[in-house]
Amino acid sequence: MRRIVLGLTALVFAALGAAAIFLALQEPEGPVSPAAVNVAGAEIGGPFTLTDHTGERVTSEELIDGPTLIYFGYTYCPDVCPVDVAQMANATELLAEKGIEVTPVFITVDPARDTPEALAYYVEAMHPDMVGLTGSAEEIEAAAEAYRVYYKRVDVEDSAAGYLMDHTAFTYFVTPEGVEAVFRRGHPPEEIANAVAELVSRG
Ligand code: NI
Repeated sequence: MRRIVLGLTALVFAALGAAAIFLALQEPEGPVSPAAVNVAGAEIGGPFTLTDHTGERVTSEELIDGPTLIYFGYTYCPDVCPVDVAQMANATELLAEKGIEVTPVFITVDPARDTPEALAYYVEAMHPDMVGLTGSAEEIEAAAEAYRVYYKRVDVEDSAAGYLMDHTAFTYFVTPEGVEAVFRRGHPPEEIANAVAELVSRG
């Protein structure tokens, strides 16, 4: 019995830990330092090799050679992604006006449907400098895991899209040194641009 109780206690603590991480990631407040999101005790970000929207293989090292904004989503997303990606594009424009060149990057969590061609159509409509990335299911899983992105296929009835992807929606500001800031969903592009400009000026 005692062993069962201990087992249950461990389960409850594991569940509470998961809930705490979930809540920390859901709080609709300002930009957070990677340390603030980093409740699991592991670092955010990491190397990846994916295929861009022109069909070229690209490593994270080649891609992130300067200030970079990264968002994980999927082109079939009916509501959240288009808004967030448009805001990332707006932030990129606002930063260009400040003389700061940033590469906006869209990484799909739906590689089955988001081929390079599908991504090309999407990113070109969003911003001329935007890079779309896809890959094998395993490659996307590895990149998402590195950035602590949760995603899951959700089958819905009577949907023209066929299925949806449940996914976390953060915008990451990344430099060759690593992830510098994480912006929660719905963060205004002006504030993303200001926060990024401040981080860039600090070096
Ligand atoms: Ni979405």
